[in-house]
Amino acid sequence: MGAAGRQARGSSTEAFRFGPDWWQRGVVYQIYPRSFADSDGDGVGDLPGIIAHLDHLGPAGLGVDAIWLSPIYPSPGRDIGYDVSDHSAIDPRFGTEADFDRLVREAHRRGIRVVLDLVMNHTSDEHPWFRASRGSRDGPMAHWYLWREPSGVDRAGRPLPPNNWVSWFGGPAWTYDPQRGQFYHHTFLAEQPELDWRVPAVEAAQLEMVGHWLERGVDGFRLDTFNVFLKHPETPSNPTRRGRTAWTRQIHDHDYDQPDLPELLTRFRAVIDAAPATMSVGELFVGSTEGAAALTTDRHLVFDWELLTRPWSASAFRAALRRRERAFGRDRWPTVVLSNHDQPRHASRLADSVGATGPARDAIAKATAVLELTVRGTPFLYYGEELGMGDVMVPPEESIDAPASRVAPDFLWWDRSRSRTPMPWSAGPGGGFTTGTPWLRLGHDVDERNVAAQSADPDSVLRAYCRLLTARAELPSVQDGTLEVVRTTDPDVLGYRRVGSGPEVLVLIGFADRDHPVAVPRPKRGGGWRPVVGTHRDLPERLVHGSTYTLRPYEGIVAVRG
Ligand code: GLC
Ligand code: MG
Repeated sequence: MGAAGRQARGSSTEAFRFGPDWWQRGVVYQIYPRSFADSDGDGVGDLPGIIAHLDHLGPAGLGVDAIWLSPIYPSPGRDIGYDVSDHSAIDPRFGTEADFDRLVREAHRRGIRVVLDLVMNHTSDEHPWFRASRGSRDGPMAHWYLWREPSGVDRAGRPLPPNNWVSWFGGPAWTYDPQRGQFYHHTFLAEQPELDWRVPAVEAAQLEMVGHWLERGVDGFRLDTFNVFLKHPETPSNPTRRGRTAWTRQIHDHDYDQPDLPELLTRFRAVIDAAPATMSVGELFVGSTEGAAALTTDRHLVFDWELLTRPWSASAFRAALRRRERAFGRDRWPTVVLSNHDQPRHASRLADSVGATGPARDAIAKATAVLELTVRGTPFLYYGEELGMGDVMVPPEESIDAPASRVAPDFLWWDRSRSRTPMPWSAGPGGGFTTGTPWLRLGHDVDERNVAAQSADPDSVLRAYCRLLTARAELPSVQDGTLEVVRTTDPDVLGYRRVGSGPEVLVLIGFADRDHPVAVPRPKRGGGWRPVVGTHRDLPERLVHGSTYTLRPYEGIVAVRG
């Protein structure tokens, strides 16, 4: 590791509240940089904007342990930053190289680690590697991408794709390049050509790039669609089956999840393990909870989507938790994800799932926060969720999500613009996000739902998050314990205990808009429970085993044995 990186990490270790196991004990906060804070009035969020708001995230505010930045690299923006044209640089629209180094320093000073989003499966078609590769069949980068000969020609003499693979974003997964006279592969947009990770020079170049970010003090990486890196070397057609869309009509045996992926991950891990206290998290591209668990290793987490797909129902979450516990077992550590830049925001999604509006909506957001911050796994919060921010209806002509423009009966999609709208910091036209015209509209509720207003209101969603995050940091069993679902007589109550390196913790959450009487369970080692935090500010003094506690509508409560 270079001197700068050593310094960046070393000079501030005292600020970090957890040591090398922060990836397990801590909480990560995802920032979508375009939408967090704009410092220069161009309507696009930027790195100086993030730096200016670090106190919202550090110990003076929420107190999270790491920020994950969605891509900040130069990009033509076809997939808004997930089409990268230089993986080792900062996009000037976000700031300078010096701004990035300052962000790392300022974050570290507040005990916040920095996690970058690595998009290594594909590049932009404007990346110099792809330009070189498409330009010559025998140049040094000729085989860096997945080039294949046409399988034939159609009646009109047009070249036919090499196999039946389809793109996740609709249409075939192959685009013909007349310059080279061959097809190239892309699981996503045609502007996102797929690298061939089986070429040793590709892997070497990627790992070198990773090393460069470690030297600059980065603490971890999110690996975009990491289970797609490897395809079957001979690119055979996928078997087919019945399904509603072109994608689901294939059994994806050959275009991702290949058996040699774990070995590739081990080589990647060797690079990042050489730097102290680093972690990685893989984005599982279409896969099951069991699939996520299988690819999880020490300090390498894998997102599973089990919790993200459930409606607001105690039995649905109970089933999801049980499935996760079965899949991950004791030895693998899960993640907790309810929202991200690809999914509808959970505050509106969960409220809508039960038709809740008005105050019930925020009450559900707070109860969800109790769950998110106390079930087993590392929580990944999505910017704005701490305000109970919901999806914003962006009219189609303002949408910036490329696949959303292609929706067809055979291609189901939603508009991801809705969950990527600017963060509301204060009331007013730009919501404190920008003094200019925001790149994407803000929600209509910005005057009430913003950081300033919620900071001043002790009963706000934001203040509930702050209380919960503070309490969590002092509950070792929540950070490292096992999870056991507790039987409750009321089907609308979700209860679980966490048993780990600190006192046992009991969590009870009432999912319905009514009172829920629950029989208080017995702590494993006897005694009673002392409530420490919850959705409501007024907590009962004790929960006595054998007695009944009546949870209020959407009340969540966290109690410690003692
Ligand atoms: C990941 C990203 C998503 C992007 C896709 C292609 O799924 O989260 O935003 O569109 O990869 O890079
Ligand atoms: Mg800006």
